[in-house]
Amino acid sequence: MSTFEIRPYHPTDLTALYRICLGTGDSGQDATHLYNDPDVIGHYYAAPYAVLEPELAFVLTHNGHAIGYVLGAADTAAFGHRCETEWFPPLRARYAMPAEDDTSRDANMIRAIHRGHRREENDAAYPAHLHIDILPAGQGMGWGKRLIQTLADAMRHQGIPGVYLGVGRRNANAVGFYQHVGFHTLQEEDWGYVFGMRLGT
Ligand SMILES: CC(C)(COP(=O)(O)OP(=O)(O)OC[C@H]1O[C@@H](n2cnc3c(N)ncnc32)[C@H](O)[C@@H]1OP(=O)(O)O)[C@@H](O)C(=O)NCCC(=O)NCCS
Repeated sequence: MSTFEIRPYHPTDLTALYRICLGTGDSGQDATHLYNDPDVIGHYYAAPYAVLEPELAFVLTHNGHAIGYVLGAADTAAFGHRCETEWFPPLRARYAMPAEDDTSRDANMIRAIHRGHRREENDAAYPAHLHIDILPAGQGMGWGKRLIQTLADAMRHQGIPGVYLGVGRRNANAVGFYQHVGFHTLQEEDWGYVFGMRLGT
């Protein structure tokens, strides 16, 4: 029998988060073949959320194994500051800034690690942001919608008024999903969209 479940993140899920992040890291498709270092993408997009804000991290399991997650940061500016002091310093020491002519995916992620999770302007109506990724075994069955609902409920519980996310134009599947589950466009950029959802708190 095939059993799916959404449950809160536990620290023992951390390696699975790295795997899921890499397995969906090419605009929703498997990015394993694109990276020399399998961890570099998860260092930026997945692990700091679960480590720094575990109360806003939930996993989807299939027969007990984590195959998806939704990860939130309650206050994007505060999260960016905490990453600067608690998360990025050892990574910046470990991963030297790549040469300017290095256009590899690894190099681009390492540049992001050196840049940090900074946000230019902060919108008080949408202080939180999220990431959601599910491996193919859990896609298309309503679990993504339930993960978003689970995180939205946890954010409402914290009194958070709104949440946003960024999605690349190439990821047409995710763009359609977000629009379908209640996100609207806050900004359109060359690279894609910033979508937002009010949480009614
Ligand atoms: C994008 C993703 C999170 C969606 O989760 P999912 O479990 O596949 O989607 P669900 O089955 O929960 O879909 C929920 C609803 O959205 C609809 N939907 C899903 N994809 C859609 C699309 N491309 N266009 C329109 N509607 C869509 C579904 O039909 C469903 O509608 P219903 O509630 O009326 O039945 C998931 O496919 C995924 O993780 N993909 C790979 C990683 C990724 O792209 N992450 C996002 C990075 S920004």
